[in-house]
Amino acid sequence: MNNSKRLFLRAKKVIPSGINSPVRFYDPYPFFVKKANGNTIWDMDGKHYLDFCNGYGALLLGHRRKEILSAVSSQLNKGTLYCAPTDLEVELSELITSNYPFMEKTRLVNTGGEATMTAIRLARGFTKKKKIIKFEGCYHGAHDYVLVKAGSGAAHHGISVSDGGLEEVSKNTLVVQYNNSQELDSVLEKQKDVAGVIVEPVLANMGLVLPQKNFLSEIRKITKDHDALLIFDEVVTGFRMSPGGAQQYFSIKPDVVTLGKALGNGFVIAAVGGRKDIMNQLTPEGKVYQASTYAGNPVSVAAAISSIKTINKYKNKLYPKLEIFCTILARALQDLANDMKIPHQVNAISSMFQIFFTNTPVTDYVSSKRADVRKFKKLFNALLKNGIFIAPSQFETVFLSDAHTLDDLDKTIEAYGKSLKTVKN
Ligand SMILES: Cc1ncc(COP(=O)(O)O)c(C=O)c1O
Repeated sequence: MNNSKRLFLRAKKVIPSGINSPVRFYDPYPFFVKKANGNTIWDMDGKHYLDFCNGYGALLLGHRRKEILSAVSSQLNKGTLYCAPTDLEVELSELITSNYPFMEKTRLVNTGGEATMTAIRLARGFTKKKKIIKFEGCYHGAHDYVLVKAGSGAAHHGISVSDGGLEEVSKNTLVVQYNNSQELDSVLEKQKDVAGVIVEPVLANMGLVLPQKNFLSEIRKITKDHDALLIFDEVVTGFRMSPGGAQQYFSIKPDVVTLGKALGNGFVIAAVGGRKDIMNQLTPEGKVYQASTYAGNPVSVAAAISSIKTINKYKNKLYPKLEIFCTILARALQDLANDMKIPHQVNAISSMFQIFFTNTPVTDYVSSKRADVRKFKKLFNALLKNGIFIAPSQFETVFLSDAHTLDDLDKTIEAYGKSLKTVKN
């Protein structure tokens, strides 16, 4: 029995399902990690993989990036948690505002889920309205406001996707089709009690789904016309698509923004920010409650400052490199699948891509669900055998990092070539 299997059997006895976040499980058991560095992750059985999961997008700069490790280790010598304000927090919020001008004020939190929960509560507190709208297939964290799927009928009332989720909560979350601004407009015409609309500007939680031309500018206009706040959930896209996230990439001005993942490049930190008048509603000056013991802890803040400074320093090389690498991989993948006559779609943008085994373009939840997940599972398992680690689910995204090299591209294309053969059979 190998070490991962032995550990998984032990884990199952003391950890529900043996893992600490459901997406980490795959059949028959996940590999257990020994260490990671740069572009590579090692398992407990001596195998190593090129990492394209990259902390589900968090590791934009790769594992153990030297600038970040050095900032964190010097902070470790000064203490890890004060629960009193620091100059570091001020510096980080100033940096965020300079990269994201629409985040005039920022509250630091720990996770993306906390950031979206706070953004939604803020929208309700600010507008004094009750309902929120999300788009089908977008993921905004594991809390009740957003853990809903589309209900039946024209009302689009959300239904909780989880046992224990209350209908009293989920019915206040309305669900609209992604890339369908007309539907958003007509729901907002009927529903006068909508505080805000939350969206992943590029949808990275249904595989990868791109916003169609004008979708984001249209929803910006529609939300403004109906006095609902536009919340850009940039937990994935923030820093990944550009130093100023998707809002800079697509030139859209949201009211409230959430950041996470690449903000800390592997350290636990997230942020919610936006217009001053909205952010001023937070306690103690305002009446919208939000709090956390570890919020703004100096270790994570030091990591985030270093991440942003590193990104800003190398941005002219970093983003073109990631975009070119991503285009090369996505095109090669298409060519391979075409040569093997495997029906497929490849969606790609910036430093993210995904393949779907389906004949029809993937533009929303329904078209994404048409993909043959059994084929994806075969691809995932074969990629692992060939030394490539991507997220185990069809409904996740492949993420590049700055640690990837030209040489890695050749290895990855070769591995996809071998692995796609198993899909064909
Ligand atoms: C777009 C988006 N928002 C929010 C979250 C939640 O972030 P966290 O897992 O840090 O709570 C995620 C996590 O994957 C995400 O992809």
